[in-house]
Amino acid sequence: MLRPNFLCIGLVFLIAVFYEADGYHSYSLDDCTYSSRDLSDAEYLRIVYFNKVKHVQFNSTLGKFVAFTKQGWRDADYWNNDAAYIQQLTGEIDRVCRHNAQIYFSSILDKTVPPKVRVRSVKKGSGTHPAVLMCSAYSFYPKVIKLTWLKDGKPVTSDVTSTEEMADGDWFYQVHSHLEHIPKSGEKISCMVEHASFTKPMTYDLDPSVSESDTNKIAIGASGLVLGVILAAAGLIYYKKKSTGRILVPH
Ligand SMILES: *[C@@H]1O[C@H](CO)[C@@H](O)[C@H](O)[C@H]1NC(C)=O
Repeated sequence: MLRPNFLCIGLVFLIAVFYEADGYHSYSLDDCTYSSRDLSDAEYLRIVYFNKVKHVQFNSTLGKFVAFTKQGWRDADYWNNDAAYIQQLTGEIDRVCRHNAQIYFSSILDKTVPPKVRVRSVKKGSGTHPAVLMCSAYSFYPKVIKLTWLKDGKPVTSDVTSTEEMADGDWFYQVHSHLEHIPKSGEKISCMVEHASFTKPMTYDLDPSVSESDTNKIAIGASGLVLGVILAAAGLIYYKKKSTGRILVPH
């Protein structure tokens, strides 16, 4: 009684092949799930769909098929009595899931790239207006990261705003954290970064030299100076050429 039912599903496959336009559609999906590095919680599923409806599924944790529809119940019953098939599917957890997981771990998930970190002042404080500092981490992988502001080595949580980890589109990420604070002399500000690429948290001190706006002002000033010198030199050369030319031309 169960066997013809199974054959019926086999036939459905054939119908799907020959009458694509208005036939039936059946497909199965192999699914591996794990959340621990040692794969101790790995689970393998073979999910069978018929006309887009999930109707039966092999669950490696249970070691058998479970049904979701009336039709699926009959298939589950049939396949669960096929010891060789159940044994084959039970082995897929090692052959498919654990085997591929090791490849994914070694080629993607275990790879780490440390961030390039910059701590700088982006806005100078004046009087009661707080200064704005920015701690940026660039070009790191994987995405998970933690930035913590430190004042004299103690974590600061207030007046901190951080961006989300932003994808650069090339597997790398960047993140930025801002700290508003009233500068006090002698106070040491730093940014602590925790990331999978580090064996311990890394601390970066605020670069006290020049802020970004100061750098811009210096750059604009310097460009202006260079431009002025060039124009003056050009003018001088032009003037010299003109005056000497006048002398050389005979009347
Ligand atoms: C597979 O079976 C286990 C044990 O009953 C259960 O905990 C788990 O949720 C099942 N998986 C799915 C995807 O249904």
